[in-house]
Amino acid sequence: MITGPVLAIETSCDETAAAVVEGRVVRSSVVASQADLHAPYGGVVPEVAARHHIGTVNAVVDRALAEAGLRLADTAAVAVTRRPGLIGALLVGVATAKALAYAARKPLLMVDHLHGHVCASWLAPLALDPPFVSLIASGGHTRLDLVRDWRAPEPLGQTLDDAAGEAIDKGARLLGLPYPGGPALERLARDGDRDAFTFPVGLAGRPPGLDFSYAGVKTALLYRVRELGEAGTAERRADLAASYQEAVVRPLADRLMRAAERTGVTAVAIGGGVAANGRLRELVRAAAEARGLRVAIPDRALCTDNAAMIGAAAHFADPVPWPDYLALDAMATAPPGGIAA
Ligand SMILES: Nc1ncnc2c1ncn2[C@@H]1O[C@H](COP(=O)(O)OP(=O)(O)O)[C@@H](O)[C@H]1O
Ligand SMILES: [Mg+2]
Repeated sequence: MITGPVLAIETSCDETAAAVVEGRVVRSSVVASQADLHAPYGGVVPEVAARHHIGTVNAVVDRALAEAGLRLADTAAVAVTRRPGLIGALLVGVATAKALAYAARKPLLMVDHLHGHVCASWLAPLALDPPFVSLIASGGHTRLDLVRDWRAPEPLGQTLDDAAGEAIDKGARLLGLPYPGGPALERLARDGDRDAFTFPVGLAGRPPGLDFSYAGVKTALLYRVRELGEAGTAERRADLAASYQEAVVRPLADRLMRAAERTGVTAVAIGGGVAANGRLRELVRAAAEARGLRVAIPDRALCTDNAAMIGAAAHFADPVPWPDYLALDAMATAPPGGIAA
C-alpha cells in the first residue's frame, strides 16, 4: 500500500481529469469536460475524445499538482484508469501516467474505473467502511455489489440490457434535449409531475431479484411521444421528463434497499454519473433513513467521472514498481465477473 500523495489520472471517456489524493483526503481534483465538443454529434465520438485528451491532459495534470501545492517529485505514486472505457481515450491516460511515473521514478497503480466509482465513498468526509451495498449507475454500467472488502466487491445484480444512464440519455434525446442528457432531463423534470405518466420498467414475470432491465422503458417513452404528437409532446415535456426520470431512478433505489435487506448490511452507497441525479439522491436518502441504514452519497462531482475516485481506488491496488509497468496496457472491457481492484 502506498502512503503519501498519489497523482491520479482519468481519461476513460469524455472527461480529462487529474487529482491528488492523500489517504482519504482529496487535495485537488480537476475535471476538463469535453461535453461541448461532442454535443453537436449527440454523443461521444471516440476519436474526437482521444485526440482532445492528448491536447488537454498535461495542463490538467499540472493544475491538479499546482492546486495541491506539489511537484511531481513530491508524489508517492501515479495512478491511472486502465479499463473499461474507450480504448483510444484510455491509452492517452495510461501513456501519460507511465511517462510521468517513469520520469519521476515512481510506482504506478492501475485502476478499474468502476472500482473508482465504488471507492468514491471511501473518501473523506464520507469515509465509509465496509460492509455495505454499493449501487453504481453510469452511462455504461448499472450494478449492485456487496462490499465486505474494498478490494473485492461481490456482484449481487446488474443490468441485463441497457444501463440506467443510457436510458436517461436516450430518453432525453427523444424529448429533444441536448447532449449530455442527464442534467438536462433533471432540469426539465423539476417543472413536471412525476405521476403524470406510467412507464413500465422491465423484468415483468421474473421473480423480484437484484438485476435491472432498461431496454423497455425508452420504447414506452417513444410510443408515448408518438401518441402525443409534436404539439402534445411539446406541451407535456416537463411531465414526460419527470415521469420518465422516476421510472429510471426508482428501481435503482428500490433494488438497493432490497439488496441491503437480503444481505443484512447496515449501510448503502451510491456512485456513477446517474448518482448525481437529485431525485435518485432524495429517494435513496429517504429510503435508507426510513430503514435506519447509514447512507453514503458522494458529492455530485465525485459521482460523475473524476480522478479523485481513481486516487481512492488506487489505495487498494497493488503498486507496480518502477520501471516494470512500461509494457502494461489499457483495456476497453473489464474481465467477466465482478469489479476487480
Ligand atoms: N444529473 C443527472 N441525472 C441523471 N443522469 C445523469 C446526471 N448527470 C449525469 N448523468 C448520467 O450519467 C452518465 C455518465 O456517467 P459517468 O460515470 O459520468 O460516465 P461513464 O458512463 O463514462 O462512466 C450519463 O448517462 C449521464 O446522462
Ligand atoms: Mg463513470
